[in-house]
Amino acid sequence: MSQPIIQDICIYGREGLEAADQAGQLRSMPTPSDIRIGSLPVAENNQSEPLDIQNINKVFEDFVRAMGQMMEVRDPYTVYHQSRVSLICVAIARLMDLPSFKIKGLELAALVHDVGKLAIPSEILTKPGQLTQYEFDLIKTHPKVGYDIIKGIEFPWPVAKTMLQHHERMNGSGYPGGISDQDILIEARILGVADVIEAMSSNRPYRPAKGISLALEEICVNKHRLYDGDVVDACLEYFATSGYKA
Ligand SMILES: [Fe+2]
Repeated sequence: MSQPIIQDICIYGREGLEAADQAGQLRSMPTPSDIRIGSLPVAENNQSEPLDIQNINKVFEDFVRAMGQMMEVRDPYTVYHQSRVSLICVAIARLMDLPSFKIKGLELAALVHDVGKLAIPSEILTKPGQLTQYEFDLIKTHPKVGYDIIKGIEFPWPVAKTMLQHHERMNGSGYPGGISDQDILIEARILGVADVIEAMSSNRPYRPAKGISLALEEICVNKHRLYDGDVVDACLEYFATSGYKA
């Protein structure tokens, strides 16, 4: 491909084009196979072999991690919370023998599961005292707000739906949908348990950490009623063997 022909056309317009034609240079105009995205020609990308799926998944993952880190600006509690919850989710999912592809989607959903809190005033998120009913109701909007932010992205995993359902409970007492049992995605049932464990065992602006023992007691006492039994069992196994420190 000869580059000067492009410059000639830009500089001289129609006359330049005609001059190039007379000089036989138009035959060197670029074809679709000359135009490239990265290392692959566009024409090739539009045909049978798409861009490397592993690279696309890596881009998804980097994007999600960046979104999770955005939360640090407003609420430093949340970003460490999301990272820790993500680690616990992966550990539980592995013990439950979930397919690795599903585990990857769960890991990413956990990294951004509280992103809807971006819509909540930071004075409420970091309020040291007890929340009013109005403030608590506002915080309860975060799964739906997060879902609305993420739902337009065509992830190969149910990231938005997992975020939406992470406060749903097995007996239907959760929010925002009040759905129950198997209507809750397995990813969201795992995320819900990991979320409670991490939140209870860490400091919050409005209270000191309750400790991992109380957190594990909470999921045991409410096994089946609020939390999936298999998820609770896997979670207990993880904390009994991993030496995880809150
Ligand atoms: Fe949450």
